Amino acid sequence: LNARMTLDRDFRIAEIDPRIYGSFIEHLGRAVYGGIYEPGHPEADERGFRQDVLRLVRELGVPIVRYPGGNFVSGYNWEDGIGPKEARPRRLELAWRTIETNEFGTNEFMDWVKAAGAQAMMAVNLGTRGIDEARNLVEYCNHPGGTYWSDLRRKHGYEQPHNIKVWCLGNEMDGPWQIGHKTAAEYGRLAQETAKVMKWVDPTIELVSCGSSSAKMPTFPEYEAVSLDFTYDHVDYVSLHQYFGNRSGDTASYLASTLEMDHFIRTVKATCDYIKAKKRSKKTLNLSFDEWNVWFHSNEADKKIEPWSIAPPQLEDIYTFEDALLVGGMLITLLKHSDRVRMACLAQLVNVIAPIMTENGGRAWRQTIFYPFLHASKYGRGIALQPVIDSPKYDTAEFTDVPALESIAVHNPEKDELTVFALNRSLGDALTLKCAIRGFEGYGVLEHLVLEHDDLKAVNGPDGERVKPHAGGRSQMRDGLLEAELPKHSWHVIRLG
Ligand code: AHR
Repeated sequence: LNARMTLDRDFRIAEIDPRIYGSFIEHLGRAVYGGIYEPGHPEADERGFRQDVLRLVRELGVPIVRYPGGNFVSGYNWEDGIGPKEARPRRLELAWRTIETNEFGTNEFMDWVKAAGAQAMMAVNLGTRGIDEARNLVEYCNHPGGTYWSDLRRKHGYEQPHNIKVWCLGNEMDGPWQIGHKTAAEYGRLAQETAKVMKWVDPTIELVSCGSSSAKMPTFPEYEAVSLDFTYDHVDYVSLHQYFGNRSGDTASYLASTLEMDHFIRTVKATCDYIKAKKRSKKTLNLSFDEWNVWFHSNEADKKIEPWSIAPPQLEDIYTFEDALLVGGMLITLLKHSDRVRMACLAQLVNVIAPIMTENGGRAWRQTIFYPFLHASKYGRGIALQPVIDSPKYDTAEFTDVPALESIAVHNPEKDELTVFALNRSLGDALTLKCAIRGFEGYGVLEHLVLEHDDLKAVNGPDGERVKPHAGGRSQMRDGLLEAELPKHSWHVIRLG
């Protein structure tokens, strides 16, 4: 089958904010303990940071990492995680029913995130706590000195402020599972007052108001409309969260889930713009898609975990090849909306629904989803260009008119490169892509990376990677026409320059 596409240098969506390639580390399962931090591991440095893991994180080029939760943050006392380690309390962690030792806390995370070459996106607890604890944390982290909390940080060995720029006002406050779950109005008022005071402590920070924890929530999008009515003037972003899973074994519908994600983003944009109109505001609110991924493989195993253990293996999804295809499609969807989605976090980064896995005391390895994320983070920097696509379509049990081809292009003027990301999600048909490329005279194919596998359920493990990209994609550029072969169910990165 043929798929036609037109790309033009002038079809600009936006300059992509690199923070769209963010990720997430929560105090959950083995993300921190046994993941990024494992004192005594042969690869651990004197701070306990696993260098094998740090190498993989740096390979992904993650520019921002959200912390410390997630559901965890809604019961967290940040003061438990600072100061001498021997004095830190052990707590019952109610979100994930474990014991939190607090051996790792804010300062350790700031050291780690720096080592990873990234910045922090810090969440405050608006579940059990509120304005006072949030403003104290901003003072502890960002105020230079001469006050109680900033001097305490200095006493803890951090003379210079951490200068954390991005802050989340709570997490998934719309969800009944959340510690301190709130109605939209309850949350809106608390977030408004917290935001106001946090910005009084440090006017340079950016704030994220909580949106819905998925498009399927019964309160979506009313939760956004009601809470943003309170927070709109005080915040810079609203959050979106979305996870997909192939629970019914319907791969055709599963790979089409990006249509739902696209609709979710459009609805949140519209809701923000409705509040903008209502307030006669000049400000346009941006979107922080700060949790997105595939999450379902580990659901049953997680029900069997003994409560009150320390860092058990939780949410350890082992990802298949088809999951990597969907992750590629989700990345394309984020890029299509890069004018408004300015930040996003692949949830999560290590061990917990993650591209990077570890063995306690042992090896670290790349899951299947590592690769599309790596490709987008590496080659998806610059200006997103809107392709005009004419693709064969198909219907699935859950979606109608699903285009077989999903694609986006990114122009990197600094490197003088154009990258076409393409997903052929058809399970039966190869596509021949014929793409007219305008405004890039003299460009030829530099490289054509492909992620493909006959077995949709193929996985990677510590002993080897069954799913990894190769550079043998078939494409050619002639007289401004790119022609590329896209085998059934495959992911492509075609680099032109
Ligand atoms: O990422 C795992 C969990 O998913 C987070 O803790 C929560 O915010 C979401 O429900």
